[in-house]
Amino acid sequence: MSRFASILLTGASGEMGHGLIDRLAGGSRPVITLDLNPLAPELAKKVRKEFVGSILDTQLLERINAEYEVDEIYHLAALLSTRSEFSPALAHKVNVEGTLNMLEFAQKEGESHGRPVTFFYPSSIAAYGLPDLGVKTAAGRVKEDDFLQPTTMYGANKLYCEHLGRYYGRHYKQLATDKLGKVDFRCIRFPGLISALTVPSGGTSDYAPEMIHAAAQGEAYACFVRPDARIPFMAMPDAVEAVLKLMHAPADRLTRTVYNIGAFAPTADEVRRVVQEAFPDATITTKVDVKRQGIIDSWPGDVDDSAARRDWGHSPRYDFDSAFRDYLIPTIRNRYS
Ligand code: SER
Repeated sequence: MSRFASILLTGASGEMGHGLIDRLAGGSRPVITLDLNPLAPELAKKVRKEFVGSILDTQLLERINAEYEVDEIYHLAALLSTRSEFSPALAHKVNVEGTLNMLEFAQKEGESHGRPVTFFYPSSIAAYGLPDLGVKTAAGRVKEDDFLQPTTMYGANKLYCEHLGRYYGRHYKQLATDKLGKVDFRCIRFPGLISALTVPSGGTSDYAPEMIHAAAQGEAYACFVRPDARIPFMAMPDAVEAVLKLMHAPADRLTRTVYNIGAFAPTADEVRRVVQEAFPDATITTKVDVKRQGIIDSWPGDVDDSAARRDWGHSPRYDFDSAFRDYLIPTIRNRYS
């Protein structure tokens, strides 16, 4: 039993978990994790306790609740967008029921130790649904409250869970009982993320990271979207920094529950050109997957992140050139050398 306030990460062995564990593990509070898969050994040694199991296992969640005083949650576990299209009912179970379980867990933790639980939820540009390419081009940088008609199960799940989080943040506060609001729900809609250390699986924005990781390993790559396909992207260290900034921002600075964040918004061809420049022997071709292309066409070409910049100082370190020049290319070269 831990008498100290602890931090819980779900989906901790995924892409974002890697970066977050590194940043959180050195702090004053112990980090505990919950994931279906065991953590990589170098991550496992940084955490106080690793639970291998599911967010759908409510008995396991009750056990964690009984053993740990959690007052910060990073709920990263999810099935990504392409994967979810193959198993929509399973996606709904993991992405929606799993999130509901974690919100209930947060409320109960808060009730038992008496302090609010800050809850981070990663939403996505998949929450948007632009009806066609003409509208997408004309829309430019999309604001948080526009075009919320997602076309995928994953996008629908993310959008609904944003609402669920807002509900948990307000509902108990409004009840005239002793169950004061215990969930301080904070959410970012991420663009596609590119990490030099891990490769995603099951996402639709995966073509950019896959292209660069394949080139670095000398493997040919067939990009599954057209060269002119455009969505916003961000380097993983900036995504991790944004999560921490939002989680540590004073509550009275926050004017929204859900924030867009952006950094750069290249076409697939612009990504190909910089990868090709760095790895001149790379063979990158195009083989369009109609379904995945349709998903990318429904996501915004870029996002308006002025609220995040104003409220909690979102300010990505890497633009398109420096993300590749200073972070992705050298770190990936190093990884595969
Ligand atoms: N990058 C994710 C995906 O492609 C979206 O959040 O599924």
